[in-house]
Formats: sequence, structure tokens, C-alpha cells
Amino acid sequence: MADQNAVLTALRTVNDPELHRDIVSLNMVRELTVEDGRVAFSIVLTTPACPLRETIDTDVRAALANVPGIQAVEIDWGAEVRSTHREGGPKPVQGVRNVIAVASNKGGVGKSTVSVNLAVALARLGAKVGLLDADITGPNIPTMMGLEGGIQASGQQGLHPVEAHGVQAVSLGFVLPAGTPVVWRGPMIGSGVRQLMHDVDWGDLDYLIIDLPPGTSDASMSMAQDALIAGAVIVSTPSKVSVEDARKAVGMFDRLGVPIFGVVENMSSDIFGRGGARDAAEDLGLEFLGEIPLDAAVRQGGDDGVPVVVAQPESEIAAAFIHLAEQVAARCSVLQFAGESGGM
Ligand SMILES: Nc1ncnc2c1ncn2[C@@H]1O[C@H](COP(=O)(O)OP(=O)(O)O)[C@@H](O)[C@H]1O
Ligand SMILES: [Mg+2]
Repeated sequence: MADQNAVLTALRTVNDPELHRDIVSLNMVRELTVEDGRVAFSIVLTTPACPLRETIDTDVRAALANVPGIQAVEIDWGAEVRSTHREGGPKPVQGVRNVIAVASNKGGVGKSTVSVNLAVALARLGAKVGLLDADITGPNIPTMMGLEGGIQASGQQGLHPVEAHGVQAVSLGFVLPAGTPVVWRGPMIGSGVRQLMHDVDWGDLDYLIIDLPPGTSDASMSMAQDALIAGAVIVSTPSKVSVEDARKAVGMFDRLGVPIFGVVENMSSDIFGRGGARDAAEDLGLEFLGEIPLDAAVRQGGDDGVPVVVAQPESEIAAAFIHLAEQVAARCSVLQFAGESGGM
């Protein structure tokens, strides 16, 4: 007859396909009950943006099919995002479990566009997400998220994020009146980013996405020294020059000791080409996180302040961003477990 032990033994044969460990020892199986052949339990994934839920579901049901006496299996799906923070490391950003940096070595490749749609996609998948516009050279997150400037500076109460499209957003653009030329010198850039990270009341977040200024600027340096970064996403277009620039960004994160989740190719098309970033990722030994096609709806979404993931949720382009979000969340979980077990 099926009992708790028989069920757990069967579930121990099911591995998380990304983490390569069984779901019982990963503590993903909770609240197991077995009654008259009816098995019920929760599976708590490491992210609501898990791309592998269906695979795990199939594997679990296959494993339980071998246990005699089971008539019904009821699975309740949940997710708990774990924190990157380690004792003795850089100061965590209060309330934030994982800081994810989006970077490129040059402007105009779609770094802000990717940051915005990545954040919104993660939120739509059920995660609690923040978005920090740290690009002092051109803070355009407020426009892309449909937020007005200036609403943020709330006197003594300090800084609070504004919610848009399910994401908690903060931008240097909020504290500067629209159109102000940004002439902050290096050291002030660093302190601006530090203030935005640590002085903002983020609440409770699974992921904080940071849109960095392009290049190996003070903001990136200061950020990497001031907070533990779970990982960086490098944005590149398919063109050769952009790919070479992406290599420089990779070099910077390596020097700073920030792990790189991988490379995303933006603006893939028949005109600009495709696959250049995928090849570069391979050369650099990095994951390729996916490609985002060149599509007028993406630019339109940015101009309108309604990201394409929200404006056209059923489109192919939205699917590409959702795929990217799942890949990024999966890399984040994998690196956490690699850290915990001293490297897998
Ligand atoms: N996949 C895409 N398809 C069409 N237009 C895009 C795409 N990605 C970005 N853009 C547009 O390209 C311009 C530059 O993108 P942006 O995100 O501001 O780049 P960055 O932050 O790297 O400077 C914007 O007008 C944006 O709407
Ligand atoms: Mg930008």
C-alpha cells in the first residue's frame, strides 16, 4: 500500500533538471499527505518564472505511477525565491533577495528596453519585481514605464518606488525635472546609485533589475562594490561591433567578481543579422539567454510607456521576453545552489 515513505522514496528519484538534485533533498516537496490512495503535496519551485514546471510535473507523475496503491495525485504549485545574500559579503539591499544587473558596453543596443520588459515579464510570471534606472547618461525608464518625472521626491519620507505594470520602479529621472542635462561628475554618480539602491524603501522583492549606464562607468563599479549582485545580463545586438563591446562588459564583470547569467541578443533581424551574440556567448563560455527580434511594436511600447509584454501579451515578441525572464530566473536559481554547495 502507498504510504508516506513509499511516496517520498519515489519522489527522491525526481531531479530538478536545472539544479541536478532531487526535489526532496532540495526541500521542494512540502505538506505531503497520503490518505486512502490519495496523495497530495506542494511543490515549491525556486522561482515562479520556472521554465521547467511541466517537465517536473511529468517526471513526478511518472515516478508515482510506479508506486502501487495510488489512485490520485494532487499537486499544489508554489514558489519561493531564495536570496543571494551571504554572511560577510557586500551589504544586501534591504528587502531584496536578488539584484540583477542589465549591462552593455555601449548605448542604443536596447538595454533599457530589455530591462523594462524583463522586469514586467518576471512580474507577470508571479515574481515581486523592482526596476532601478541607474543610467545617469539617459534615464529613460520613466518614459518606457509610462511614469511622470518628479513624483518621487517625497521630502523627509525619502524615496519610494512607484508601481507601474506590476513593477516597483525608481529612476534618477524621477528626482530630476524632465530635460535636465545630467552633468554629475564621477563621484556623484556613484553616490547617486548608492542612494537609489540603499535609501529606497523597496518593500519585499524577489528580483531587483538594474538598468546600468553603458560601459565601464563609475556607476557600475560603485554598484558592484556596494551591493551583492546575483548576476549580470549582457545585452548585445547581432552586429560584430556590438558583440565586441559585449566582450568588454564581460571583462568588467569578471574583474568585479560579478557572475554573468548570460548574453541576450536584441534586434535580431534579416537586416541586422542574427546569431552574432549567440556565437560570441559561445566563444566567451557564457550562456545564451535568447534573442529578441527587431520589431516596431517594441519601440512603440517604449514610446507609449506600455511595454510590449503588457501591450501585446499574446505576441511572439512578448513570448521572447517571457522566455528571457524564465532563463534569467533559472540562471539565478542555479548560481545560488552552486554557491551553497561550493560549486557543482
Ligand atoms: N527589439 C527591438 N525592436 C525594435 N526597436 C527596439 C528594440 N529594442 C530596442 N529598440 C528601440 O531602440 C532604441 C534604443 O533602445 P534603448 O532600450 O533605449 O537602448 P539603450 O538603453 O541600450 O540605450 C529605442 O528607441 C528602443 O525603443
Ligand atoms: Mg537606456
